[in-house]
Amino acid sequence: MKTPQHIAIIMDGNGRWAKAKGLPRTAGHKAGADTTKEIITAAKKQGVKYLTLYAFSSENWLRPEKEVSFLMDLLRLQLKTQVKELHKNGVRLRIIGDREKLNKDIRDDIEKAEKLTAENDELCVQVGLSYGGRQEILHAVEKSKGDTTQFEKYLYTREIPDPDLLIRTGGEKRISNFLLWQIAYTELYFTDKLWPEFDEADFETAIKDFSIRERRFGGAKE
Ligand code: IPE
Ligand code: IPE
Ligand code: MG
Repeated sequence: MKTPQHIAIIMDGNGRWAKAKGLPRTAGHKAGADTTKEIITAAKKQGVKYLTLYAFSSENWLRPEKEVSFLMDLLRLQLKTQVKELHKNGVRLRIIGDREKLNKDIRDDIEKAEKLTAENDELCVQVGLSYGGRQEILHAVEKSKGDTTQFEKYLYTREIPDPDLLIRTGGEKRISNFLLWQIAYTELYFTDKLWPEFDEADFETAIKDFSIRERRFGGAKE
């Protein structure tokens, strides 16, 4: 089976999952974090080399203060408890997004985690935090000062190949400012499954769907 080298995921539907269970949205985020862990393991098992996860968008800062601070605390906890195991499993962790907007203690932990795992190459996991595709493009345009050959070097995803497959859970069929530049020829896969209920079998189903698609990149078959 043709396995995608790079899978990107818009992990959506935490709030609705919680609401359906009569729980606060925050419970959905907690459950979502467990799914994330499971899918990282599944990706490694499937031989995926790059996994890029959308965890918090530039626009998510506009959510109620309480939800934002819960998400930041959850992020703190994940950085404290998950990094060691990721490292042990040969995972390289990188954060993409405008990290200046994150609190200093979180930024410090991110830097530590990136340094610790920098030499790992079993699976590269990129996490989008305070990430916006438009902002990323504008940033790179500014930095490259009109030299288009240098443009991609200023994207957060420099050195990382474009995604082969983009999965969005939660039923919405939109991109929500994720990897706008990088997904030019990415295969898109949408599922109604909410992120906390998405599992390894669903992940494999998405990969199977990808494996039978014909990618043409604008070309034509004889
Ligand atoms: C995705 O779930 C997580 C974040 C965007 C932080 P949501 O919180 O967007 O959940 P829904 O889409 O409201 O169900
Ligand atoms: C996209 O989900 C961002 C993340 C999953 C982190 P949103 O819930 O923020 O997107 P919209 O509002 O449905 O477009
Ligand atoms: Mg959402």
